[in-house]
Amino acid sequence: MTYLQKPPELSESEVTESVQEYYGLEGTLSALPGDRDQNFLLESPGGQKHVVKVSSLDEAQEILEFETEMITRLSNDTNGLIPTVIPTISGTRLVTHENQQGHLYRLRILEFLPGTLLAEINPRSDALLRNLGERMAELGSVLGAYPDHPPPRINFEWALGQAGNIMEKSLSVLGSPQRALIKLTLEDFLDNERDFLGLGSQIIHGDVNDHNVLVSLNKNGQTCISGIIDLGDAHSAPRVFDLAIAIAYGIIGTTDPLLAASEITRGYYAVQPLLDIEINVLMTLVCARLGQSVCIASLRRNHGDTDPYHLISEPGAWKTLSLLADIPRQISTGTLRQACGLEACSQSAQLRTWLDSQSFEDVVTLPEDPNSLGILDLSISSPDLIGRDADDTENFTNRVSQKMRSDGLTLGIGRFMEPRGFYLADAFEGRLGDPRERRTIHLGIDLFQEPGTAIHAPLAGRVHTVRENQNRLDYGPTVILEHSAPSGLFWTLYGHLERASVENLKTGDSIDAGQPIARIGTYPENGDWPPHLHFQIITDLMGGEGNFPGVALPRDSNVWTSFCPDPNLILNLPSKTTYMEPRGLFERRRQVLAPNLSLSYETPIHIVRGKGSYLFDVLGRSYLDCVNNVAHVGHEHPHVVGAGQRQMGVLNTNSRYLHGAIIEYAERLSKLFPEPLSVCLFINSGSEANELALHMARTYTGGTGITVLEGGHHGNTPGLIDVSHYKFTGSGRHAPPPWTRTALVPDEFRGRYRRDDPSRATLYAADVGEAFRRLDSEGHHPAAFLSESLLSCAGQIEPPQGYLTAAYEHARAAGALCIADEVQVGFGRLGSHMWGFETQGAVPDIVTLGKPMGNGHPIGAVVTTPEIAEAFDNGMEFFSSFGGNPVSAEIALAVLDVLEDEKLQDHAARVGTVLKTGLDTLMRSHSCIGDVRGRGLFLGVEFVESGETLEPAPEITQYVVEHLKKRGILLSSDGPGHNVIKIKPPMSFSESDAECLISELDQVLAHDLVQGTSLI
Ligand SMILES: Cc1ncc(COP(=O)(O)O)c(C=O)c1O
Repeated sequence: MTYLQKPPELSESEVTESVQEYYGLEGTLSALPGDRDQNFLLESPGGQKHVVKVSSLDEAQEILEFETEMITRLSNDTNGLIPTVIPTISGTRLVTHENQQGHLYRLRILEFLPGTLLAEINPRSDALLRNLGERMAELGSVLGAYPDHPPPRINFEWALGQAGNIMEKSLSVLGSPQRALIKLTLEDFLDNERDFLGLGSQIIHGDVNDHNVLVSLNKNGQTCISGIIDLGDAHSAPRVFDLAIAIAYGIIGTTDPLLAASEITRGYYAVQPLLDIEINVLMTLVCARLGQSVCIASLRRNHGDTDPYHLISEPGAWKTLSLLADIPRQISTGTLRQACGLEACSQSAQLRTWLDSQSFEDVVTLPEDPNSLGILDLSISSPDLIGRDADDTENFTNRVSQKMRSDGLTLGIGRFMEPRGFYLADAFEGRLGDPRERRTIHLGIDLFQEPGTAIHAPLAGRVHTVRENQNRLDYGPTVILEHSAPSGLFWTLYGHLERASVENLKTGDSIDAGQPIARIGTYPENGDWPPHLHFQIITDLMGGEGNFPGVALPRDSNVWTSFCPDPNLILNLPSKTTYMEPRGLFERRRQVLAPNLSLSYETPIHIVRGKGSYLFDVLGRSYLDCVNNVAHVGHEHPHVVGAGQRQMGVLNTNSRYLHGAIIEYAERLSKLFPEPLSVCLFINSGSEANELALHMARTYTGGTGITVLEGGHHGNTPGLIDVSHYKFTGSGRHAPPPWTRTALVPDEFRGRYRRDDPSRATLYAADVGEAFRRLDSEGHHPAAFLSESLLSCAGQIEPPQGYLTAAYEHARAAGALCIADEVQVGFGRLGSHMWGFETQGAVPDIVTLGKPMGNGHPIGAVVTTPEIAEAFDNGMEFFSSFGGNPVSAEIALAVLDVLEDEKLQDHAARVGTVLKTGLDTLMRSHSCIGDVRGRGLFLGVEFVESGETLEPAPEITQYVVEHLKKRGILLSSDGPGHNVIKIKPPMSFSESDAECLISELDQVLAHDLVQGTSLI
């Protein structure tokens, strides 16, 4: 076997001459990579392209002839998927050429297929991977119809059948972790060799690697496989070898290689069903190909080869191989089976039917009163048993007992397939691929009863193992019993037992149905859980000894539950013991909620829990919230939640009675403002705050004219839509009323006056003065200048320094009051200051507050001067039914406590700097980022098609938002061009959250659509 098989080295001038001599073709040559052949792209002056292949005489003549004949046939039979061979002037397809030194070469010219190499496609969509499978099945069935008599190839290192030999040879040149991985792969290959060598053979392509597959756009603009090249490795082998090779390279670099493999298999099976035995050996063959590839690279390097083309797949192949090696083979094969529409575990259906037909002894004695037995809701959204429980067993146990007592239960049931909050702990991390997921899905049924409760064998069997699984949050003392059924052996697992109760059990003991085998243990010896029995049925121990996973990742859960059937088939509990994910919410919502209440994301997410900067969906997938400025001090902050819960239990009434909370809050809030802003009015939302502020300004000034800024948004009432440029110029637009004037947005990136203009602050501010002059001249006496201090909906814009003071001067000179809408930016978010107007050294007359004030509880406020408040008191009472009620006031006070105690303003400054610095670095390496702006935890990233024209890039922005959601990061876009990503997370957002956002964003920015890689 040769690991240094170099391509021939015919000079370009000789290639040019021979191409002209034999084919009558002219043009310029450029070298293409090649493993054994010397390849060139030939471009004629007319733009026609061909591929010239020069083979050495070492390549046997009959192999080249066979290959040439096959390409010619295949090109016809596959509708151009394979490029055809161009004949010479004399009609032959393979030329033997002697150069001036008397060396012989073989020359062929192939049609050039346009397209991008699959290796360069980022990301490889599921649809593209499925299409690869479909094309492989089509190619396989065409090749299957050809006579199977290829010339024999001696010592052909790339034949998949040689993978075992190659891996074995390379063991001596590999370092230790890699050697261990290859040893495992080799053992697996040898263990299964008989199975796949028993499969019938046909001609196969032999090397459908990602550098031999071309991708183009179909007529719907989606990527599809448009060409498969290089039949140089065609030989005779089982057809499934070709699929395995395509999978091995098709999944390199994907985020979850197993799911990518299942998509390719799904596509293949839809066109050409596979035999069970073929699916069973597929993963072995995929791993063998990856192993073969890395071993050939290692051997070549060991022989001094450093040609990057020869070593090209190596790093990705090692990574993919080690990811696959970590997954039990039953699970990876089960995943492929499921993709084909088959049950993941082939014995499962038979076992389920048998279990269903049998009766079993009770595992624990059931209470006589059926009402004493019931479900304990441990799901992600359970209000009783929460996500933090895994950190504090004693508290968790007390809560379980309390809940059971209050529900009158003596036997609490934890459901099968239930996604659970306490499995969000790090101990339940799963395989890589989807950063959102932990192993949250429960594969057994839990029976919560007093410690010491006897546990009986439900059916006869023998003790398989008695084991102490000591790690915290593992099973503690565990017994596995083995049973037999018509489908074969199966096992039942009993976890969290009392150590003393299993001391006399040993492997091999036979067990009668109904025999006591153990007792329920207590913490910490039971793995540090509330006392309960975890009971699970297992159809395949997957090589495990004394332990078996009791939870699975959401994306794998259907495969695992095929291997672990519903335990209630044995327990026979009279309850709904299987968790059912709520379905149909989208349709129900559509029926009863107004259609213009939009949902975020192409596929909306069902969020049921929040904690700090994270939100969790119904399956326990976590999302880093980078956009919710309402959950200001962090989702469900315990101090805020506790304050609301406590006050709800005491009193909630309106503000017409004396109550300390509203006064204390007003005192503490007003202290956060500069003089003379010292009087508060409480309402329930930002919209109400702005309505009230405008009402006060009109009362105070007697005027009606309002000046606002382009892109501004101030609320959802008709009155506020009339002063929200973002709304009255957006979809569903209408002309603004004559008393509204819009001044220029002080956007120094793409606005009228930019960063290079030193007078930009003054010029933008002058436009506010101009707006008031026009209003006045049209009979609308100025009442208010209403603006956010930093603009959110307009695209996260920070006005140039000096703007706000100058704009306020113009407004006041015109007789208007200045209203600062701090609904989004207030309460320390900006890091440097508590309020946005302070960043500009300006002092407004009225400030409006909302969103962050109650951390999600609806409360808003207006803060103003005593003089304006006096003028507003014109005889008409101001009253809001809910505004400033004791519950709202206590919650708002708790928010202020957390802000102070956790020093969140300083935190926002610090983390904001880390985040902005990271975003600035991304901007330098990704030309689609035009601008990064803002301060603290109020930042914007603006995407542009070109840094010169600043043409907005809404498509890229939307793409980034959608793809980051798939990676567990929530963001959204804003700005008039829908091309600004707004970043305004809960203030609990940490430095590591910032680093995570930067790194995920960096990866999505490398995608083809963002990079502007144009496919044809
Ligand atoms: C700047 C600004 N002001 C006011 C409001 C209205 O607040 P609410 O939705 O609480 O009525 C919003 C809402 O998005 C806002 O962004």
